[in-house]
Amino acid sequence: MKRMLTGLQPTGVITLGNYIGAIKEMAKRQDEYESFIFVADLHAITVPNMDLNLKEKTRSLIALYLACGIDPNKNTIFVQSENEYHTNLSWFLECNSYFGELSRMHQFKEKSKKNENFTAGLFTYPVLMAADILLYDTDVVPVGIDQKQHVELARDIAIRFNNKYGETFVVPEPVMSGAGAKIMDLIDPTKKMSKSSENQNGVIRLLDDLDVIRKKIMRATTDSEMNIKYDPENKPGISNLITIYASILNKTVEEVEKEFIDSNYGTFKKAVADTVVQEVSRIQDKYNEYINSDLIDKILEEGKKKSRIFAKAKYEAVKNKVGFY
Ligand code: AMP
Ligand code: TRP
Repeated sequence: MKRMLTGLQPTGVITLGNYIGAIKEMAKRQDEYESFIFVADLHAITVPNMDLNLKEKTRSLIALYLACGIDPNKNTIFVQSENEYHTNLSWFLECNSYFGELSRMHQFKEKSKKNENFTAGLFTYPVLMAADILLYDTDVVPVGIDQKQHVELARDIAIRFNNKYGETFVVPEPVMSGAGAKIMDLIDPTKKMSKSSENQNGVIRLLDDLDVIRKKIMRATTDSEMNIKYDPENKPGISNLITIYASILNKTVEEVEKEFIDSNYGTFKKAVADTVVQEVSRIQDKYNEYINSDLIDKILEEGKKKSRIFAKAKYEAVKNKVGFY
């Protein structure tokens, strides 16, 4: 069976973009693959943040994974920092990565612009991500489009290492959700819906109040035309709402256009709001069931054990290939 792996950072806020771009995709494919899903807490300390509260946020993210349909019987669920082979392997990969290629990472360029005192960890972040992926012989990595470049770097590093030291790593592929690879901001639909956005009216968080979610969608920026047509260039707002609706209901863009061919924007927005609220409400109910249960501790204990067995074997193989004592 092929392997699938993905991770999210425990930043405390999970958006509809994260759900559609990464978690939902993972849940959809969990029967087809042997899957690993983890909390990328080591990645969370690459940027300055005084209020990390990692323990609580890690727990909350695990509860959200479960609430979003990640089945603990079908997935190995674990916390990155509980498995030191990730950082161990990262060093080996750093010594097989180039300053030039890391300098070209879009996310690094963007984040390093925001704070000129950026850390070396922010720079080598994609190499740690490559270690996360390569440790488990991962075949596919579900991510949103903004992480695609990082998965491509992991591929390059794997190929380079294999050429230098002999077949060691499986070369991974990024997979993106069909319609929903990128969910845009509701207020400024030309930019990505992001946890860190200044105007939170453009962002739907999975733990937002349901009335707030409805209002955010009803107030989403659209255009002065009247037709519900997918045209991201000229109609980014409507196109984004079409993507959201299509992704949640597993429909195609064409099906959605057809469904609303005679509708106005008000009717369409209401349908989108109903759909999102229904989906999020279901997720929140389950989240509340899980968040205080000791199921989370059990799952993480098991995930830690299992992930370390895989990771240790791969790490030892790498050390051998490189020729260490
Ligand atoms: P981030 O929130 O940037 O840490 O991203 C976590 C995961 O969610 C990655 O796989 C992203 O590609 C995905 N993701 C984040 N924001 C969006 C978005 N607006 N649309 C689609 N996927 C997203
Ligand atoms: N960098 C990813 C993000 O911010 C999280 C992540 C870390 C990840 N390691 C990974 C995603 C490995 C997929 C595979 O979204």
